[in-house]
Amino acid sequence: MLAVQNVTRVFSGRPAVDDISFTVDGPAFVGIIGRSGAGKSTFLRMMNRLTDATAGRICVEGRDILSLRGRERRAWQGQCAMIFQQFNLVPRMDVVSNVLHGLLNRRPVLATLCNLWSRADILRALEILNRLGIAEQAQKRAEALSGGQQQRVAIARALMQDPRIILADEPIASLDPMNAQIVMDTLRRINVEDGRMVIANLHTLDTARRYCDRVIGMRDGRIVFDGSPAQLSTGAARDIYGADHSFNEAATSTALPADSAADAAYAAQLMA
Ligand SMILES: Nc1ncnc2c1ncn2[C@@H]1O[C@H](COP(=O)(O)OP(=O)(O)OP(=O)(O)O)[C@@H](O)[C@H]1O
Ligand SMILES: [Mg+2]
Repeated sequence: MLAVQNVTRVFSGRPAVDDISFTVDGPAFVGIIGRSGAGKSTFLRMMNRLTDATAGRICVEGRDILSLRGRERRAWQGQCAMIFQQFNLVPRMDVVSNVLHGLLNRRPVLATLCNLWSRADILRALEILNRLGIAEQAQKRAEALSGGQQQRVAIARALMQDPRIILADEPIASLDPMNAQIVMDTLRRINVEDGRMVIANLHTLDTARRYCDRVIGMRDGRIVFDGSPAQLSTGAARDIYGADHSFNEAATSTALPADSAADAAYAAQLMA
């Protein structure tokens, strides 16, 4: 389905992504981990053509998406929705309008300027919000929601595009452990139930282990690990993060605090 072939991106003479290659056969949940500056965001930005590659090919079902221009490039951007750490919602706009903005690159500019949405589009937006458990927030302003709810609105907006691939750049980095879990569970559900590939940059090892089918470790722009969560040993993690023997996995953990019985019960309910 996805073949990344010798992709490089150079900024001012320095490679941010340095000759990376990997293939993904089905709609897997792929996690990319690595320390700050490893090239994770640059890779995602090349995937959805926000940044051009210096060299290489990214083939999706045999078609090199790096060579798409104009209308075809925009169509591709509609097929791979992006989710960001800071949600990137319009804060003062209501939730359902934010979700409808997922359709922006598919409709005439005039209709968008006048905020004219079809009844079918609005019903679909509400249906997606309902699926993600936030239908009752539909009429509130986005800024009135909690971080976890806002990220689910951003996921709903992405789903409105009906994308084949969801690219998530540190989707839970701004969230507390409980909301992080809800958002990751949501992404996993979309991956499993809809068969959409998810590629997520993650900053914690336990999240990568728990949610991903496949983990790619980057260091200095290169892939230094590519395997299953089970293969991601502490030694492999040390290598990815360039850490010495004092490396402590707990430092990268988002695990829920064990001392809160109510939190634990709620988490168990979510997992059921
Ligand atoms: N637009 C740009 N211009 C110049 N250098 C850039 C640009 N974007 C990224 N870089 C450089 O490329 C390298 C990789 O950056 P990137 O943002 O991809 O890392 P990252 O793995 O996402 O890090 P983080 O975990 O901090 O988000 C860094 O050295 C960064 O400074
Ligand atoms: Mg980044």
